[in-house]
Amino acid sequence: MTRTPQAAAEEAAAELRSQTGADTYDIALVMGSGWAPAADLLGDSGHELAAADLPGFRPPGVDGHSGTVRSISDGNRNLLAFLGRTHLYEGHGTDAVVHGVRTAVAAGARTVVLTNAAGGINPAYPVGSPVLISDHLNMTSRSPLSGATFVDMTETYSAELRETARSVAPDLAEGVYAQMPGPQFETPAEIRMLSAMGADLVGMSTVLEAIAARAAGARVLGLSLVTNVAAGLQGANLDHEDVLATGRDSADRVGRLLADVVAKL
Ligand code: 6GU
Repeated sequence: MTRTPQAAAEEAAAELRSQTGADTYDIALVMGSGWAPAADLLGDSGHELAAADLPGFRPPGVDGHSGTVRSISDGNRNLLAFLGRTHLYEGHGTDAVVHGVRTAVAAGARTVVLTNAAGGINPAYPVGSPVLISDHLNMTSRSPLSGATFVDMTETYSAELRETARSVAPDLAEGVYAQMPGPQFETPAEIRMLSAMGADLVGMSTVLEAIAARAAGARVLGLSLVTNVAAGLQGANLDHEDVLATGRDSADRVGRLLADVVAKL
C-alpha cells in the first residue's frame, strides 16, 4: 500500500524540522501572487529551502521553480512561509495541492494564513483592495479529503481571526471566495453564475487548502488581493500580466497589512 497523505506530511515535517532546526511552528502562511514580498516583513528569516527538497513536494517544473519554504522567527513564534504553491490546474491532484498545508500542520502550526490574487466580482472591491475571506464556494468538484471524513465547514474561516484582522484594519472588507479549477479564466456567463451564487471574489486556489487545514484541526485566515475585475464586468480582457502587475504595485501596502495582522494572531 502506498503511504497515506498524512504519513507523507509527517515525513516532510520531520525533514523540515531537521533542515531548519526549528522544533515546531506556530503559524503557516501560503503567499499567493502579490503577497510573497510580505514574507520579508514577518520577522527574521532563518533557513530558506526549495520546497522540492522536502519529501512529497513537486520537483521543479518547466519554469525551473517549485516554490520555496522560509522559516521565520518573530521573536516569540516560529512562522513557516510558503512562497509559491501548487495549483490544481497543474494536474498533480488534490494531495499535491494541499501537501504544504498538511506538512505545516504536521510541523505544529495551529493557524494557517492563506493568501491569493483574485478577480473582483463584487464591484465594492476595487482593484488593489485586500479582502478578508469570510466563506467560500468550492467550484472545483474536488476534495482533498476521502473516505468518511465529514468535516464541519460552518466556520471555515475563523471568525475570531477575522475579528483580529479587523482590529488592525477596521475598514478591511470581507467576501465570499469561489475557487474555480482553472487554468482558463472565467467566461462572462460563469462570472454572472458565480455572482448569482453569492461569490464576491474568484480565483484558482485557497479553497482546497482551507478544507485540508480545517480537517487537520487548524484555524484558517484567508486574504485575497483583488488584482483585476472579473470577466465581462468591465469590458477589458483578462491578462495574467495584469494580475502580476497589480500584485507588484500592491506588495508594500498588503505586505504591511499582513505583517500587522500576523503580529496580532
Ligand atoms: Cl478573474 N479568475 C480566476 N479564476 N483567477 C483569478 C482571476 C480571475 N484574477 C486573478 N486570479
